[in-house]
Amino acid sequence: MSIISLSALRYIRKLSLSVTLAVSSQLLVQPVHAADPGVEDLKEVLQSQVALMKPELQEKVKGLSTDTKMILMSILAMHNRYSDRATLRQVMTEILADFQSILAGIMTDNPEHAADAARRLANHRIPVGGLLPYLGMENINDERLATLEGFNSTVEGNALKLAEAADAGDMAKAASLLTNIATGCVACHTVFRGQPGVSDLLR
Ligand code: HEC
Repeated sequence: MSIISLSALRYIRKLSLSVTLAVSSQLLVQPVHAADPGVEDLKEVLQSQVALMKPELQEKVKGLSTDTKMILMSILAMHNRYSDRATLRQVMTEILADFQSILAGIMTDNPEHAADAARRLANHRIPVGGLLPYLGMENINDERLATLEGFNSTVEGNALKLAEAADAGDMAKAASLLTNIATGCVACHTVFRGQPGVSDLLR
């Protein structure tokens, strides 16, 4: 792991904690309860994802804390495009294409192009079964999953800021936000992804 990704990770962990606290206190303090249609909808989505999982993963998910489940729901709340067939790997490829498309918009001084691609990236598709089935059993615990919220807001929060900067015609600011987004991608990969495409046919 390089020094850059280590420090990025530390930063994001800190960010993740504050976001987690903000999210959980918001959900606890505000009158959000079972009657709230938003929360009910999100619970239903989460339950329908759990229904698709194998029993061993279901068990682990059921054992997660309420805070972790709230984090998962707060991430879902930022998205409204669900796929019933795309894997996380396929969604990630779309995300990379959107990231490259943002770059093309910036480099051609086309704010509409950049802003559309950034908003599409921020509202990426949710893969079939949600994120959890793709993260590996070893990562399905409260400590690991607490980092998700920070990664999500680093990538998607900055993508939305980039869209706003582009809307305002500030392409220099939009360009500077690319690094923040990429830092979030790399940090999440450091925690949740190994080297892509490794062959078990090599010695
Ligand atoms: C929430 C954590 C997380 C974030 C944030 C994230 N990724 Fe990923 N990414 C993953 C995981 C996990 C995989 C491995 C998925 C698999 O192979 O099933 C992956 C895989 C990929 C792959 C490789 C697919 C392959 O061929 O194995 C690409 C490309 C990719 N991500 C791009 C991006 C880009 C670009 C961003 C930021 C704009 C990003 N990711 C943000 C978790 C994340």
